[in-house]
Amino acid sequence: LRQQAITALTSTSTTEETRAWHSEYLGRKGRLTGILRSVGAVSPEERPRIGKLANEIKTALEEALQERQTAIEQAELEAARNKELIDVTLPGRPQTLGKMHPSTRTLREIADIFATMGFLVYDSPEVETDEYNFQLLNMPPGHPARDLWDTFYTTTPDVVLRTHTSPGQIHAMRQYAPEPIRIILPGKCYRYEQVTARSESMFYQVEGLAVGKNITFSDLKGTFMNYASQMYGEGRKMRFRKHYFPFTEPSVEVDIDCVICGGKGCNICKYTGWLEILGAGMVNPRVLEYGGYDPAEYSGFAFGLGPDRMTMQKYDINDIRYFFSNDVRFLERIG
Ligand code: PHE
Repeated sequence: LRQQAITALTSTSTTEETRAWHSEYLGRKGRLTGILRSVGAVSPEERPRIGKLANEIKTALEEALQERQTAIEQAELEAARNKELIDVTLPGRPQTLGKMHPSTRTLREIADIFATMGFLVYDSPEVETDEYNFQLLNMPPGHPARDLWDTFYTTTPDVVLRTHTSPGQIHAMRQYAPEPIRIILPGKCYRYEQVTARSESMFYQVEGLAVGKNITFSDLKGTFMNYASQMYGEGRKMRFRKHYFPFTEPSVEVDIDCVICGGKGCNICKYTGWLEILGAGMVNPRVLEYGGYDPAEYSGFAFGLGPDRMTMQKYDINDIRYFFSNDVRFLERIG
C-alpha cells in the first residue's frame, strides 16, 4: 500500500490532484485510515507491530504529501509569474503633460481682466440668422456696409456663420432689458477670406457691451485704458481713430503703442509704432431699441477685439494657421 500510495502521489501535478490523493489514502474514508481503524481487530500479540507499522506509513505518507504539495505550489507560482511577466528593470515610458491652447489662455486672461471691472462672460451662438448678424445691427438687406464682412452663407436660407460676435449683443440685450448690462462675449467667428499667415477664415473675437443710464464715451476710454494697463503694463499710450460701424455711433478704432518696439517702429506694427487692438463705439440708438432699451433713457458702449494677434505677439507665433492645424509640436513649443 505504501508503495502504491507513493507512486500515485508522484503522478499528481496540481493542488486538486493532491487533494484527491489525500482523501483516497488519508481521508476519513481513506484506505490507510481503514487499516488503522481495523488494528483493533487483530490479535493482541500482533497489534503493537501492525499498529506501529501503520502509523509509520501514515507519517511517511503525510510527509511525502507535504513535500509534493510544496513543490506543486512553487510550480504554480512560477507559472503565474511567467504569465504576467513584469520586467522591473525596464526604463519608464515618458508621460506627456497636457497644455492649454494659447488662444484659450489669452481668452481667459482677457476674461480675468474684464472681470476686475465687473464684466460677466456671455455665450452666444456661432451660427446666426441674417437678422441677428446684420439686420438688428442696423444693416437691412442690401445695406452696403454688409460688404465689410465676407460672409459664409449656408444652404439654409437666411442662416449664416457669424462674421463677428456683435449679434450676441442683441441676444444679451433681449434677455436682460431693461436691466443694465456689463458683459464680454468671447467666441469664434467666420469669414470667407483668403487664408494667409495673418488671417484665417475661423478666428476669435471678444465682444464687449455695457448698457445703462449715463454711460458715456469716457467710460469706454477708461475701460480700455484699464484693460491695456492690465494686459500690457502701466503707461501705455492709446490712439483713437474715427471709424464707421453701422451699429455704433460714433465709432472708433483703437491702437496702442507697439508693445514690441515701444512705438519706435518695427515689422510687427508695420513701422507705424501703433498696433490696432479693437473696433468700438457708442451703441447706435436704433440697436438699443432693437435690443429692447429706450435710447432716450439708456446708452451704452460696445467693442470688438481680436485676441488672435495678441496671442501671436505674446507667444511669438508667426503664422495664424498654426492655431487650428492640430500639430502637437506647436502646443509643445508654447511654454
Ligand atoms: N463687430 C465689429 C467687427 O467685427 C467690431 C465692433 C464691435 C465694432 C463692437 C464696434 C462695436 O469688425
